[in-house]
Amino acid sequence: MRAVIAADRSAVAAGIRLSDVAEPAPAINDVLVEVRASGFVPAEWEWPSTWIDRSGHERTQPIIGHELAGVVTGLGYGTTGLSLGQRVFGIADWHRDGSLADFVAVEARNLAPLPGDIDFTLAASLPISGLTAWQGLFQHGRLQPGQTVLAHGAAGAVGSVVTQLAREFGAYVIGTGRATSRQAALDFGAHEFLDLDSEDIRDIGGVDLVFDVIGGDVQEASAAIIRPGGTLVSVVGPVEARPVDATVVDFVVESVPAQLTQIVQRVRDGRLHSHIGTVAALEDAVTALNPTSRRGGKTVIRMRN
Ligand SMILES: NC(=O)c1ccc[n+]([C@@H]2O[C@H](COP(=O)([O-])OP(=O)(O)OC[C@H]3O[C@@H](n4cnc5c(N)ncnc54)[C@H](OP(=O)(O)O)[C@@H]3O)[C@@H](O)[C@H]2O)c1
Repeated sequence: MRAVIAADRSAVAAGIRLSDVAEPAPAINDVLVEVRASGFVPAEWEWPSTWIDRSGHERTQPIIGHELAGVVTGLGYGTTGLSLGQRVFGIADWHRDGSLADFVAVEARNLAPLPGDIDFTLAASLPISGLTAWQGLFQHGRLQPGQTVLAHGAAGAVGSVVTQLAREFGAYVIGTGRATSRQAALDFGAHEFLDLDSEDIRDIGGVDLVFDVIGGDVQEASAAIIRPGGTLVSVVGPVEARPVDATVVDFVVESVPAQLTQIVQRVRDGRLHSHIGTVAALEDAVTALNPTSRRGGKTVIRMRN
């Protein structure tokens, strides 16, 4: 089968190539999925799981990509809950070969049924961004209606979903990003927008929840404006900022089918829009994942129609 492999860790995106590899076999509790489309998070090179398996052994030439939408074509021993021919979407295990391939083996518990009226490209853009936003706001951030959320990178893949879900939940949302993202962030539902290049986070006043997708100085400045009892949620690794009286959470998204179902239902009824920036065929994936200029939103690779 065709697959995009990372051939050289030090070369990051420049080290990927389209290759012919053996089709995976579904293990116990797995399904084999014929992938129709796969989303991609450009920071995947930095994740330890891309290069090391669960036993701590080095992974050589891993197949990258973990957000997927496709059709179940095989069942592992003991697999229940999904059936052959079923449309599914979700996140493939970080430590195993991923979904930028014709087929991927995934634990069935990581996939949700995909409604027939949602196309595969759209579905493949949802799992990581949607679940990260959902889990950061509701599980880790314990968001309450009426609270103020500082949604960094509000026009990006994760931040745009954070903005929409927080707004739907009754929060006051301050989106951030570069000046060029202002209109998109407001269109996604931010009540106001802060240009990180020219405005000072400390001028905002107090917020209850910071959703950090940037880190560094932005995180540090944001920590300083969290109200007592508030929360700093980060998805960019261990948090260095130390807010005075706030809970600090750094987490890695998990595939939770019940939450995927909530997310896709919102897409179906128009409450949630996915920010897809680039769609390319698998043959063009290497070029699409090595962009010469930065385009906002999610990159989705289509394996077939
Ligand atoms: N822990 C987890 O489970 C998890 C899950 C998903 C994502 N992540 C991480 O979260 C981060 C964001 O992911 P994403 O998919 O949402 O990326 P994305 O689509 O590129 O969104 C990031 C947004 O933040 C903006 N931004 C970044 N740095 C900025 C800066 N210094 N000043 C102003 N704006 C800035 C970007 O603007 P430009 O496009 O103009 O740069 C973009 O709008 C990545 O590091 C990713 O690895 C972690």
